[in-house]
Amino acid sequence: MLTNIIVILVILFFARSIYRDFIANDNNPLANQAEASIVEGKFTPKSLAKYNGKDHPKIFISVKNRVFDVSQGAAFYGPGGPYENFAGRDASRGLALNSFDPVVLTPLDQPIDDLSNLSKLELESLEQWDEHFENRYKVVGTLHENGTVSEEVKGL
Ligand code: HEM
Repeated sequence: MLTNIIVILVILFFARSIYRDFIANDNNPLANQAEASIVEGKFTPKSLAKYNGKDHPKIFISVKNRVFDVSQGAAFYGPGGPYENFAGRDASRGLALNSFDPVVLTPLDQPIDDLSNLSKLELESLEQWDEHFENRYKVVGTLHENGTVSEEVKGL
Protein backbone atom coordinates (compact mmCIF):
# COMPACT_ATOMS: atom_id res chain seq x y z
CA MET A 1 0.00 0.00 0.00
CA LEU A 2 2.73 2.42 1.07
CA THR A 3 4.81 1.37 -1.94
CA ASN A 4 1.86 2.16 -4.21
CA ILE A 5 1.53 5.64 -2.73
CA ILE A 6 5.25 6.28 -3.14
CA VAL A 7 5.14 5.07 -6.77
CA ILE A 8 2.18 7.38 -7.48
CA LEU A 9 3.95 10.35 -5.87
CA VAL A 10 7.10 9.69 -7.92
CA ILE A 11 5.03 9.50 -11.13
CA LEU A 12 3.25 12.75 -10.25
CA PHE A 13 6.59 14.42 -9.57
CA PHE A 14 7.98 13.43 -12.98
CA ALA A 15 4.75 14.33 -14.73
CA ARG A 16 4.97 17.80 -13.19
CA SER A 17 8.61 18.24 -14.32
CA ILE A 18 7.75 17.16 -17.85
CA TYR A 19 4.79 19.56 -17.92
CA ARG A 20 7.00 22.42 -16.71
CA ASP A 21 9.61 21.62 -19.37
CA PHE A 22 6.88 21.68 -21.97
CA ILE A 23 5.64 25.07 -20.80
CA ALA A 24 9.18 26.49 -20.81
CA ASN A 25 10.10 24.87 -24.11
CA ASP A 26 10.61 27.16 -27.10
CA ASN A 27 8.84 24.64 -29.28
CA ASN A 28 5.69 24.98 -27.28
CA PRO A 29 3.25 26.42 -29.84
CA LEU A 30 1.20 28.12 -27.12
CA ALA A 31 4.25 29.99 -25.79
CA ASN A 32 5.32 30.92 -29.31
CA GLN A 33 1.89 32.22 -30.14
CA ALA A 34 1.89 34.47 -27.06
CA GLU A 35 5.36 35.70 -27.97
CA ALA A 36 4.47 36.29 -31.60
CA SER A 37 1.67 38.60 -30.55
CA ILE A 38 4.03 41.00 -28.79
CA VAL A 39 7.04 41.34 -31.06
CA GLU A 40 7.70 44.03 -33.63
CA GLY A 41 5.57 46.75 -32.07
CA LYS A 42 6.47 50.24 -33.22
CA PHE A 43 5.96 52.88 -30.58
CA THR A 44 6.18 56.63 -30.40
CA PRO A 45 6.90 58.29 -27.03
CA LYS A 46 3.17 59.04 -26.81
CA SER A 47 1.91 55.56 -27.72
CA LEU A 48 4.43 54.07 -25.30
CA ALA A 49 3.24 56.28 -22.44
CA LYS A 50 0.06 54.37 -21.77
CA TYR A 51 1.96 51.17 -20.89
CA ASN A 52 2.66 52.48 -17.43
CA GLY A 53 0.86 49.90 -15.28
CA LYS A 54 -1.97 52.35 -14.63
CA ASP A 55 -3.60 53.19 -17.96
CA HIS A 56 -2.71 49.69 -19.13
CA PRO A 57 -1.79 46.68 -16.99
CA LYS A 58 1.41 46.07 -18.97
CA ILE A 59 4.52 48.09 -18.20
CA PHE A 60 6.94 48.90 -21.01
CA ILE A 61 10.06 51.02 -20.92
CA SER A 62 12.37 52.06 -23.68
CA VAL A 63 16.16 51.77 -23.47
CA LYS A 64 18.22 52.97 -26.44
CA ASN A 65 15.12 52.86 -28.64
CA ARG A 66 14.26 49.27 -27.84
CA VAL A 67 11.03 48.72 -25.92
CA PHE A 68 11.11 46.13 -23.13
CA ASP A 69 8.16 44.52 -21.40
CA VAL A 70 9.11 45.01 -17.74
CA SER A 71 5.72 43.94 -16.37
CA GLN A 72 7.49 41.20 -14.37
CA GLY A 73 9.32 43.98 -12.55
CA ALA A 74 6.10 45.71 -11.48
CA ALA A 75 7.51 46.02 -7.95
CA PHE A 76 10.14 48.38 -9.44
CA TYR A 77 8.15 50.16 -12.15
CA GLY A 78 4.53 49.79 -11.12
CA PRO A 79 2.53 52.48 -9.33
CA GLY A 80 4.30 53.33 -6.06
CA GLY A 81 7.49 51.49 -7.10
CA PRO A 82 10.89 53.22 -6.80
CA TYR A 83 11.32 53.53 -10.58
CA GLU A 84 7.70 54.20 -11.55
CA ASN A 85 8.77 57.33 -13.42
CA PHE A 86 10.35 55.10 -16.03
CA ALA A 87 7.10 53.24 -16.75
CA GLY A 88 5.89 53.95 -20.27
CA ARG A 89 8.87 56.18 -20.94
CA ASP A 90 12.30 56.30 -22.56
CA ALA A 91 14.50 55.57 -19.52
CA SER A 92 17.82 55.85 -21.39
CA ARG A 93 19.06 59.15 -19.98
CA GLY A 94 17.93 58.30 -16.44
CA LEU A 95 19.80 55.00 -16.60
CA ALA A 96 22.90 56.69 -18.03
CA LEU A 97 22.89 59.33 -15.29
CA ASN A 98 21.78 56.90 -12.59
CA SER A 99 18.82 59.07 -11.78
CA PHE A 100 15.11 58.38 -11.62
CA ASP A 101 14.35 62.06 -11.19
CA PRO A 102 11.47 63.06 -13.53
CA VAL A 103 13.57 65.95 -14.91
CA VAL A 104 15.80 63.49 -16.79
CA LEU A 105 12.80 62.21 -18.75
CA THR A 106 12.19 63.74 -22.15
CA PRO A 107 8.75 65.42 -22.23
CA LEU A 108 6.33 63.52 -24.47
CA ASP A 109 6.01 66.39 -26.95
CA GLN A 110 9.78 66.65 -27.44
CA PRO A 111 11.88 64.71 -29.98
CA ILE A 112 13.35 61.41 -28.81
CA ASP A 113 16.53 62.05 -26.80
CA ASP A 114 19.52 61.36 -29.08
CA LEU A 115 21.78 61.05 -26.02
CA SER A 116 24.50 62.83 -27.97
CA ASN A 117 25.78 64.87 -25.02
CA LEU A 118 26.42 61.94 -22.69
CA SER A 119 29.95 61.33 -21.45
CA LYS A 120 31.84 58.11 -22.13
CA LEU A 121 31.18 56.94 -18.57
CA GLU A 122 27.49 57.69 -18.84
CA LEU A 123 27.28 55.81 -22.14
CA GLU A 124 29.04 52.86 -20.52
CA SER A 125 26.57 52.91 -17.64
CA LEU A 126 23.70 52.94 -20.13
CA GLU A 127 25.28 50.05 -22.02
CA GLN A 128 25.39 47.98 -18.83
CA TRP A 129 21.75 48.72 -18.07
CA ASP A 130 20.87 47.82 -21.64
CA GLU A 131 22.48 44.40 -21.10
CA HIS A 132 20.63 44.03 -17.80
CA PHE A 133 17.30 44.63 -19.51
CA GLU A 134 18.20 42.40 -22.43
CA ASN A 135 18.98 39.53 -20.03
CA ARG A 136 15.93 40.02 -17.90
CA TYR A 137 13.09 41.21 -20.10
CA LYS A 138 11.58 40.61 -23.51
CA VAL A 139 11.87 43.17 -26.31
CA VAL A 140 8.38 44.03 -27.57
CA GLY A 141 9.23 46.70 -30.08
CA THR A 142 11.12 49.83 -30.95
CA LEU A 143 10.70 53.55 -30.33
CA HIS A 144 10.15 55.89 -33.27
CA GLU A 145 9.82 59.60 -33.69
CA ASN A 146 6.48 60.01 -35.35
CA GLY A 147 3.18 58.35 -35.90
CA THR A 148 3.78 57.33 -39.48
CA VAL A 149 5.38 54.08 -38.30
CA SER A 150 3.35 53.81 -35.14
CA GLU A 151 1.49 50.58 -34.76
CA GLU A 152 0.01 49.32 -31.53
CA VAL A 153 1.25 45.99 -30.29
CA LYS A 154 -1.27 43.38 -31.27
CA GLY A 155 -3.09 41.41 -28.65
CA LEU A 156 -2.26 43.60 -25.66
C1 HEM B 1 19.17 54.84 -3.13
C2 HEM B 1 19.94 54.10 -3.88
C3 HEM B 1 19.44 52.83 -4.51
C4 HEM B 1 19.20 51.64 -3.93
C5 HEM B 1 19.38 51.26 -2.47
C6 HEM B 1 18.75 50.75 -4.98
C7 HEM B 1 18.42 49.42 -4.80
C8 HEM B 1 18.11 48.55 -5.78
C9 HEM B 1 17.89 47.13 -5.61
C10 HEM B 1 17.98 46.37 -4.28
C11 HEM B 1 17.60 46.61 -6.82
C12 HEM B 1 17.26 45.17 -7.13
C13 HEM B 1 18.41 44.47 -7.74
C14 HEM B 1 17.97 43.12 -8.27
O1 HEM B 1 17.16 42.45 -7.66
O2 HEM B 1 18.45 42.76 -9.36
C15 HEM B 1 17.64 47.69 -7.76
C16 HEM B 1 17.38 47.55 -9.10
C17 HEM B 1 17.35 48.61 -9.98
N1 HEM B 1 17.66 49.91 -9.73
FE1 HEM B 1 18.14 50.66 -7.93
N2 HEM B 1 18.71 51.42 -6.15
C18 HEM B 1 19.11 52.69 -5.91
C19 HEM B 1 19.22 53.71 -6.82
C20 HEM B 1 18.87 53.61 -8.13
C21 HEM B 1 18.90 54.72 -9.08
C22 HEM B 1 19.35 56.15 -8.78
C23 HEM B 1 18.44 54.25 -10.25
C24 HEM B 1 18.26 55.08 -11.50
C25 HEM B 1 18.63 54.67 -12.66
C26 HEM B 1 18.14 52.84 -10.06
C27 HEM B 1 17.64 52.00 -11.02
C28 HEM B 1 17.45 50.66 -10.85
C29 HEM B 1 16.97 49.78 -11.90
C30 HEM B 1 16.60 50.18 -13.30
C31 HEM B 1 16.93 48.49 -11.36
C32 HEM B 1 16.62 47.22 -12.11
C33 HEM B 1 15.26 46.76 -11.91
C34 HEM B 1 14.99 45.60 -12.85
O3 HEM B 1 15.74 44.65 -12.89
O4 HEM B 1 14.00 45.72 -13.58
N3 HEM B 1 18.42 52.50 -8.77
N4 HEM B 1 17.94 48.86 -7.11
